[in-house]
Amino acid sequence: PSQFCEAGIAYDESGCGMSSTTSSSKILIKGGTVVNAHHQELADVYVEDGIIVSVKPHINVNDDVTVLDATGKFVMPGGIDPHTHLAMEFMGTETIDDFFTGQAAALAGGTTMHIDFVIPVNGSLMAGFEAYEKKARKSCMDYGFHMAITKWDEGVSKEMEIMVQEKGINSFKFFMAYKGTFMINDYLLLQGFKKCKSLGALAMVHAENGDAVYEGQKRMIELGITGPEGHALSRPAMLEGEATSRAIRLAGFINTPLYIVHVMSIDAMEEIAKARKSGQKVIGEPVASGLVLNDSWLWDPDFLTAAMFVMSPPIRAAGHDKALQAALSTGALQLVGTDHCTFNSTQKALGIDDFRKIPNGVNGIEERMHLVWDTMVESGQISATDYVRITSTESARIFNIFPRKGAILVGSDADIIILNPNSSFEISAKSHHSRSNTNVYEGRRGKGKIEVTIAGGRIVWQNDELKVVPGFGKYIELPPFSYLFEGIDKADANYISSVKAPVQRTIHKQ
Ligand code: URP
Ligand code: ZN
Ligand code: ZN
Ligand code: ZN
Repeated sequence: PSQFCEAGIAYDESGCGMSSTTSSSKILIKGGTVVNAHHQELADVYVEDGIIVSVKPHINVNDDVTVLDATGKFVMPGGIDPHTHLAMEFMGTETIDDFFTGQAAALAGGTTMHIDFVIPVNGSLMAGFEAYEKKARKSCMDYGFHMAITKWDEGVSKEMEIMVQEKGINSFKFFMAYKGTFMINDYLLLQGFKKCKSLGALAMVHAENGDAVYEGQKRMIELGITGPEGHALSRPAMLEGEATSRAIRLAGFINTPLYIVHVMSIDAMEEIAKARKSGQKVIGEPVASGLVLNDSWLWDPDFLTAAMFVMSPPIRAAGHDKALQAALSTGALQLVGTDHCTFNSTQKALGIDDFRKIPNGVNGIEERMHLVWDTMVESGQISATDYVRITSTESARIFNIFPRKGAILVGSDADIIILNPNSSFEISAKSHHSRSNTNVYEGRRGKGKIEVTIAGGRIVWQNDELKVVPGFGKYIELPPFSYLFEGIDKADANYISSVKAPVQRTIHKQ
C-alpha cells in the first residue's frame, strides 16, 4: 500500500514494491521514435530487470510484460543533471530539497540521474563524503558525486587520491569566488589543476573574480543598495568573463581539461568558444535559469519575488539568455545543468536587509528537461538528437559512465523517458514536486510533455503520478580518465621534447 507524503509523492515506506502492473520488471515500449545522441529510428524498446535488452522494430512479448504505447512520441534516455545541490548546508541554512524530494522532483521532470557536489566538512573530503553518503540513503534515483574543494593543503591533496581511487569521484570543483570562505588563489588553483591532471580527474571551476565581487559588494552597500538587485550589480558579467579566461589559461598552462560550471554570460561563453577554437579541452555548462530567464525580476518591488532569483553567478540581462542558447546549438557550449539549489521564502528572507545574506540558488531539477525541449527543440534551434546529447549523453561521456547511462542501447540501464511533442507542460509551485513554496519558472507553459519516466527499469512517473521508493537509487561510481584525457600525454611529450631540444650555443671568450 502506498502512502502520500508532502508534495503529493506516493511512495512505499517499506520499499517492497508498487502495484503489480507498474512495477513489472518487464516493460515493452512500442512504436516510438527512439532517439540517441547521433541517431534516431522507429523502434520498440524491451526492458528486463532494469536493463535495456532489445532495441528493434516489432518486438513480440508475452502477457507478463507491461506494454507502453509510444506511437507519435519520442523515447529518449532519461536526463542526467550534472549540477545539483541537495541537502546542502550553505549561507547559514540548508537547501530545502533533500535527496528524496529533489530526486522525486527530478523524476517527475524526466531526469533519472544527477551529480551532486559533496561539500567537505571542515576541509576534510572524507568527512564530507561520509556525510553525503548518509544524506543520500533515501535516494529514489541514481546519483553520482563531484567533490567541492573549499580549502587547499597537502591533506586535501592526499584525500583527492582516495576520492578518485576508492570512492568513485572523478571531478573536483574549485571556487574563484566566495572570498573569505571557499575562494582559493591562483597558485593554489594551479596546485589543484596539477593534482586533478595526475589523477585523471576533471577540474571544474566556479568562475567569478571573488576579490572584485567583494569590492563590488562594498560599492553597492556604500551606495545604499541593499536589495536583491545589488547582488547582480555587485558581480557584473565582466567579472565572470575575467575569471573564466584566467581559469582557462591556467588549465591550458597545466595542460589539463577544464569544465566551467554555470556559464551565465556572453562574456564567459566567448572565452570558452575561443579556447575550444584554439584546440583546448574546455567544457562549458550553461544552466536552465541562465538559458531562459533574465535579470528583470531582481528589480521587482516585492522582496521575496526578487530574492527568489538570486544565484551566483547572477542571472544576466536579456540577451545573454539567447546568446547562450545559440552557443549550445552551435556546440560552443556542450551540456545543460541546473545548479538546483532551492531555498523557500523564509530562507530567502534571511537577506531582507542585505543582499549579501540572501541564500544563493534557484530551482530547476524538475523543469530542465521541459524547458530545454521547448526553448531549444520547439524553437527550431536543435534536433531531437542534439537534445539527447546536451541533456544526457554528454554528461554520461564527460563523467565517464557512457554507454551505461545516456543511451538507449542494448545493455544500458533502463533510464528512459517518453516525451509527447504534441502535449504541453505548465510549471507552478502548486503542482511541482520540490519542497519549495516558490518556483522561478512560475506560470511558464510550453510544448512537449514528459509523460512517462522509467528509472532503473521501473515506471516512476505516469499519468501525472509519481511512484518512487526511498532507497531505490544507486550510487554510481564515476571512473577517472574520461575521453577528455585522451591525447594529454602525447601533447605533454611533444611539449617536453620541444623545450628540451638542444640549443647549439657557443661561448665566446672575451
Ligand atoms: O547560487 C548558486 N549557484 N548556489 C549554489 C552554489 C554554487 O556556487 O554553485
Ligand atoms: Zn539504427
Ligand atoms: Zn558555483
Ligand atoms: Zn552549484
